[in-house]
Amino acid sequence: MEGKTALSAWFNAQKIALGPIIFQAARVLRDSGILGTLRESPAGLTVEEIATKAATSPYAVLVLLEAGLAADIVRCDDRRYLLTPTGFYVLTDESTRINMDVVQKCCYQPAFYLEDSLRDGKPVGLQQCFGDWETIYPALSSFPEAARTSWLEWDHYYSDAAFPQALPIVFARKPRRLLDVGGNTGKWAIQCAGHCDDVSITILDLPNVVALADENIRERGLQERINTTGIDLLDASKPFPRDFDAIWMSQFLVCFSEHEVLSLLERAAAAMDTNARLYILDNFWDRQTYDIAAYCLQTFSLYFTFLANGRSRMYKASDITEMVEAAGMKVDDVTDNLGICSSLMICSKR
Ligand SMILES: C[S@@+](CC[C@H](N)C(=O)[O-])C[C@H]1O[C@@H](n2cnc3c(N)ncnc32)[C@H](O)[C@@H]1O
Repeated sequence: MEGKTALSAWFNAQKIALGPIIFQAARVLRDSGILGTLRESPAGLTVEEIATKAATSPYAVLVLLEAGLAADIVRCDDRRYLLTPTGFYVLTDESTRINMDVVQKCCYQPAFYLEDSLRDGKPVGLQQCFGDWETIYPALSSFPEAARTSWLEWDHYYSDAAFPQALPIVFARKPRRLLDVGGNTGKWAIQCAGHCDDVSITILDLPNVVALADENIRERGLQERINTTGIDLLDASKPFPRDFDAIWMSQFLVCFSEHEVLSLLERAAAAMDTNARLYILDNFWDRQTYDIAAYCLQTFSLYFTFLANGRSRMYKASDITEMVEAAGMKVDDVTDNLGICSSLMICSKR
């Protein structure tokens, strides 16, 4: 190894070792308003000036700023601190904010139990930090408000941005009956009803989740067009309802182990005729154009281990393709680069 390469590899290793401390420093710099204050002061500010503006002690400002120097969030020029481009992204980039919030409010403490979760095949982080639940999904409605809000914002951020682009692809085949599996709060179903007057939608999700969807559907007067069924789809003996032209699964299969995904896909296939299509919208790290997206997805994969369920992961498109084929279907088409980093797979029966 060349000297420079070894030095940068060593530096990288130290960044990993100290990552949790840097994370907290960056978050507090953001949340205390210090980064915002620096953004408004292009000529820079001294520690004392920042302390006055942020209504905090000079000691607090100094230690945060010095960690910020290490993280390249701020720089110092003749005792005046200035925001760097990285600090600008920490402060203003929506995806960074959403990721940082869900890490802080939902993942930070549970991640400490990663090893236990891997050993036990259970989300030990969830159980230690949020209560004795088997998975996060029925637990979410009883999460503390800040944790629930940050989770919903994170979850919806990735799928919401893809929905408008996915609608014309799904409706190209003019489905009249659409089954939204894992339809959550009804966001996709409501958009489908707005997109096409002739479609009726059924949402399948856990009973306490469809209760939330029902509220949203009622608020918009869409009860005639969208109905919901509360069901635990982990129960492999429960078949999918039949006679749907389109079955939609958005960010759904990631919630299940390979064995469970196969069972879900087999039940979907059993409910489909040859004209029906299965649409799988997900964030596959092997289909990303940008390394930044693959980095986020590969890292967040462990959220499923320590917090969500202890046994699923961010699947690659190639993993899902194998499971689709094992369930008696084939992948007809994949459209990438929808929304932030989603891909849409279209599958039919073989
Ligand atoms: C990651 S969210 C995706 C929600 C939505 N489809 C989207 O794209 O934003 C996964 C959804 O699957 C549902 N889900 C998870 N486990 C389930 C189960 N065992 N039975 C039924 N639904 C389940 C969750 O309640 C949640 O609404």
